[in-house]
Amino acid sequence: MAKNTLSFVCQNCGAAYNRWQGKCESCGEWNTLAEEDTTGSVPVSIRSKRKGRTFALESLSGKTQDAPRLSSGMTELDRVTGGGFVRGSVLLVGGDPGIGKSTLLTQATSLLARAGHRVVYISGEEAVAQVRLRAERLGLSDAPVQLAAETSVEDIVSTLSEGAVPRLIVIDSIQTMWTDTVESAPGTVTQVRASAQALIRFAKKTGAAIILVGHVTKDGQIAGPRVVEHMVDAVLSFEGEGSQQFRILRAVKNRFGPTDEIGVFEMTGLGLREVTNPSELFLSERDLGTPGTAVFAGIEGTRPVLVELQALVAPTSLGTPRRAVVGWDPSRLSMVLAVLEAHCGVKLSGHDVYLNVAGGLRIHEPAADLAAAAALVSSLVNAQLPSDAVYFGEISLSGVVRPVAQTPARLKEAAKLGFQRAVLPESARGEAGGDAGLSLNAINSLTTLVAEIAARGSRRGEQSAPAEKNATPARFRRGEG
Ligand code: TYD
Ligand code: MG
Repeated sequence: MAKNTLSFVCQNCGAAYNRWQGKCESCGEWNTLAEEDTTGSVPVSIRSKRKGRTFALESLSGKTQDAPRLSSGMTELDRVTGGGFVRGSVLLVGGDPGIGKSTLLTQATSLLARAGHRVVYISGEEAVAQVRLRAERLGLSDAPVQLAAETSVEDIVSTLSEGAVPRLIVIDSIQTMWTDTVESAPGTVTQVRASAQALIRFAKKTGAAIILVGHVTKDGQIAGPRVVEHMVDAVLSFEGEGSQQFRILRAVKNRFGPTDEIGVFEMTGLGLREVTNPSELFLSERDLGTPGTAVFAGIEGTRPVLVELQALVAPTSLGTPRRAVVGWDPSRLSMVLAVLEAHCGVKLSGHDVYLNVAGGLRIHEPAADLAAAAALVSSLVNAQLPSDAVYFGEISLSGVVRPVAQTPARLKEAAKLGFQRAVLPESARGEAGGDAGLSLNAINSLTTLVAEIAARGSRRGEQSAPAEKNATPARFRRGEG
């Protein structure tokens, strides 16, 4: 059978075409097709003659010699993996260059090696000396990690097949690996896929856990390794704002544990430090007494996290006002703004709106709607919100405040951190229980919240001399009726 071995493969999603085209029909990206040799990883001569080998079938209740999970010794990392690395599993750690992936994995491997496990760190990007330098800086040079700078998958597999099976192997990074079985250049989708396949096969066969490091493209997707995402057992993404020292490790996919669990780290001069109480960290530099800030009682995975939302609403000089948001979904912001305009009579079309989640956290929960709305209105009327209050609740398009999950956990965390009151959905009051330790302000509709904040604003305006920056209730038309 004549087979065309050259094809055009999308470097973003891995779709193959037999002629070049500008746009990938599968993922919609432009200019991502590159010519690759996609001959299968087994030569045709072997493929056609090889007779199937028989293998033993096993029962579900088989015994494994070792503990099925290997705890890394880093609580935050274990939380994200769901309790440690599973034997024979393959994990992909993605993130922007320079975010701290190599640092994190150097620390984790050193801890495991010190605990007496055979741990191997293969660096395809840095020379052995560079990896050593980092370990020295982290004070981990004494850890018996086995180190190599290699990029050939075949060489790596044969080396690691000798001696005791390593408990953990780190491959930093998968884009630098190449295998003889395919002809494409290293870094292409075909190479990345074939290399990952070979390593996954090795992991499943021997029971070693493997961590693959993957680079992320500018649009936040793991380039090349996008195609690896569905081959591996878990995908962790390491995020953070470059300028801030906080780093968040998030499980995007996990066959052996929960997703949406986060681990929080702080990048220091001595490597990554685990942050076991993220709320304290996200609230540590609160600017008390400024209008436009509200504390959101959120849930990340199984853990409650309090974080400050900061809003700035300022008159615009542009025809189309600006809407900028960091750490939250821009379309949710648009929705909250639309509900404020349509149901609460808050006019924002003449204002620029900026919303920021403090500390570099990214919020995915709709429960942040209420806190965002409170911060926005507070900034608009220039009225400071009570600094001892937390906010949570989802806002529906009709302006009703809807209940959210895990009310007791949110309230408990707020009480633990010294907050006195909570503004929450009316329907969640029952769930909250009587002894929350907070005074509860249960609200039914967004209009109520807006009226309360507006009242604070006008009270403030009466008391203090009305500076030109102060609350101007005229600017803020409350819904009549
Ligand atoms: P690195 O782990 O090399 O990032 P990645 O592997 O994701 O590309 O981290 C590089 C950054 O981390 C670099 O900008 C320096 C900083 N860093 C520290 O701030 N403290 C440290 O102890 C180390 C090792 C790195
Ligand atoms: Mg690195």
